[in-house]
Amino acid sequence: MKSIYIEKQNSSIHVGESYLKVKNYLPEKKCFLICDEHIYEHYSEFIDQFDYIVMGCGEGNKNWNTMEKIIEQLLDKGADRNSFLLGMGGGLVSDVTGFVASIFMRGIEFGFISTSLLSQVDASVGGKNGINFGKLKNMVGVFNPPKFVICDPILLKTLPKRELSSGFGEIIKHAFIKDESLYLFLKEKREALLNLDSDLMEDLVFRAVSIKTEVVEGDPFEKGERKKLNFGHTIGHAIENNSDLTHGEAVSVGMNLACQLSQELNGLSADDVQKVNDLLTDFKLPIDHQVSAETINQYLSKDKKKNRSTLDFILLKKIGEATIVTLPIEELKARVIGLCANPKSTR
Ligand SMILES: NC(=O)c1ccc[n+]([C@@H]2O[C@H](COP(=O)([O-])OP(=O)(O)OC[C@H]3O[C@@H](n4cnc5c(N)ncnc54)[C@H](O)[C@@H]3O)[C@@H](O)[C@H]2O)c1
Ligand SMILES: [Zn+2]
Repeated sequence: MKSIYIEKQNSSIHVGESYLKVKNYLPEKKCFLICDEHIYEHYSEFIDQFDYIVMGCGEGNKNWNTMEKIIEQLLDKGADRNSFLLGMGGGLVSDVTGFVASIFMRGIEFGFISTSLLSQVDASVGGKNGINFGKLKNMVGVFNPPKFVICDPILLKTLPKRELSSGFGEIIKHAFIKDESLYLFLKEKREALLNLDSDLMEDLVFRAVSIKTEVVEGDPFEKGERKKLNFGHTIGHAIENNSDLTHGEAVSVGMNLACQLSQELNGLSADDVQKVNDLLTDFKLPIDHQVSAETINQYLSKDKKKNRSTLDFILLKKIGEATIVTLPIEELKARVIGLCANPKSTR
């Protein structure tokens, strides 16, 4: 087991810890566990020891309605200012649990058992939480870190394969923007990683969490460097909202498009674009999409990261190095039209 303590956020992440030992991390408070239906199906024996609330699965439940239902149940169960919320699930459960805990009685403590690869390396690090507003992703929420996060690789054994690839998408993103050696590790150990070799997975999750932690510590409110974590996400979110792709799959497509733009605007070599696409494909992630340029562009106009008429877009310089480029939204939209009209131009 390896732990990371984020001092500025007073938050710890324990990679390789057994979720069965979570009680060692819980404060002497009334604890309520929040999970989704799938997690309850797989882990009911463990969950039954807690006073628990089960929410519906899927992005469609990441909304006010779910928040209200959870708050109602917390009140019925006698939760108070001194209670503790334990979210057990993927990014959906952690985003909702963190947001409920942040506003319930003006804020109570919370922690996570992170069950999906994506949430272990991404959603549970950095203190962002919140819900969608209509079709707009993560439009409402706060920055508020959990007390602890447990990332137990054993939980990944029950994760559907597609969700697993989705998590690999975020890890690959970390490698592309920050760490060429992580890229080489992923390339070399692909087979064993896809088979969930536990030591390698622990190592991989720890490396990805360390990268995100370092970035978040340096920029907790996303004023500069942290924006690089949005690589593949600006267009990725537009695709996620208008297709059946998972978050990581949509980000994979977004990374491919961002790499093509990086080749046009930021000097990324054709060889690196190819390497990016090869690694994504090796991890069973899509790089093509069926969403029209018009639909993507409509979404970009509403993107919350938009700053007046420009948008901070993340481009690669080379594998392991990203740049934040301020682009006029109209220029980005014109380039999206070009990329969608000629999707395989650089492959
Ligand atoms: N707060 C952040 O910084 C941040 C970062 C990235 C993503 N997110 C959010 O996280 C969400 C996506 O997270 P996700 O990919 O974990 O999705 P998810 O939580 O919806 O989980 C995906 C699916 O896998 C199931 N599942 C999860 N763990 C399982 C396990 N161990 N065994 C069996 N089934 C399991 C879930 O029930 C669900 O059906 C999105 O809402 C996204 O916006 C937040
Ligand atoms: Zn993401």
